[in-house]
Amino acid sequence: MTIEEIKAGDLNPQTFIENQCRSISEQVGATKAVNALSGGVDSSVTTLLAHRALGDRLLTYFIDNGLMRQGEPAAVVAAMGDLGVPVTLVDAREEFFAALAGKIDPEEKRQAITDTFYKTVFGRLVRESGASSLLQGTIYTDVEETVAGIKRQHNILAQLGIDTEAAYGYKVVEPLIQLRKTGVRAVGKALGMPEAMYNRPPFPGPALAARVIGEVTPARIERVRAATAVVEQELAGVNAFQYLAILHEDRVTGMRDGKRDYGWQIEIRCWDSENAVIATPTELPFEQLLKMARRITAEVPGVVSVTYNITAKPPSTIEAV
Ligand code: XMP
Repeated sequence: MTIEEIKAGDLNPQTFIENQCRSISEQVGATKAVNALSGGVDSSVTTLLAHRALGDRLLTYFIDNGLMRQGEPAAVVAAMGDLGVPVTLVDAREEFFAALAGKIDPEEKRQAITDTFYKTVFGRLVRESGASSLLQGTIYTDVEETVAGIKRQHNILAQLGIDTEAAYGYKVVEPLIQLRKTGVRAVGKALGMPEAMYNRPPFPGPALAARVIGEVTPARIERVRAATAVVEQELAGVNAFQYLAILHEDRVTGMRDGKRDYGWQIEIRCWDSENAVIATPTELPFEQLLKMARRITAEVPGVVSVTYNITAKPPSTIEAV
């Protein structure tokens, strides 16, 4: 299947909304649809479109995979509730950590998340609810990078030859697949979303697991989660495309209280980009970098080294895994 991109300049958000609502209704038919909300811009826009198209035939779930940022599950459920969309929170933390245990290869980690998400958790939710489709917010860039073999984005299925009806027991409906991020934000705005939601910096499907090099365990996620909170607080006012913290696998020698402390390394990344295809590191003031380093080494137990990425994409990518 070839997907035709709708460039931001050619997009008429109102017409797009009408067309996609019609298309969602046609694809779902008279049955119910299950909707995967992660709280990111893409899945939030998909949720509002599908809610408009299907009303209470849309069953929206937020999966707490244990890999989300501080306070995120409750905040996402509340924000959608404010827009009139009911969301059910599903605690799947144990299932995800069990699937990730012992895995260090990036593609194996992505595969474990994909399988747990689509086969185990959504397979069960679709069966239990009697729905026949799953709605999700895949966008054009996700497809492009996966097909190019750069990274397997966790939400790419049909484009990799996966027949979701045979593999998972449901069909997948992807109303945003022709758009890039700028177009998605324009549709979110036209749908009446608050700006904080449609302008939210992107966050990857595999969540903080995309930012843990090496094994993903609850303790290692907690470490990167705490560092992420500091980076997001300190850079909230910066006009950047995305900013994040990464936990490295190797430990390095540091010192604390006059003694050797063999500790963890956090890498900060902050990106200027239009659409994530190419990106350059933001020229942050040095004082701001020093403050983040001071806070992270003081607030995240065991961290003795903080670095700032100064590499462009390519050859880097935005996330680390
Ligand atoms: P990368 O790391 O591929 O990220 O340069 C491009 C943009 O996509 C977001 N994003 C993902 N990245 N796996 C990823 O590695 C995913 O499943 C995924 N979903 C979204 C990423 O945060 C960046 O904005």
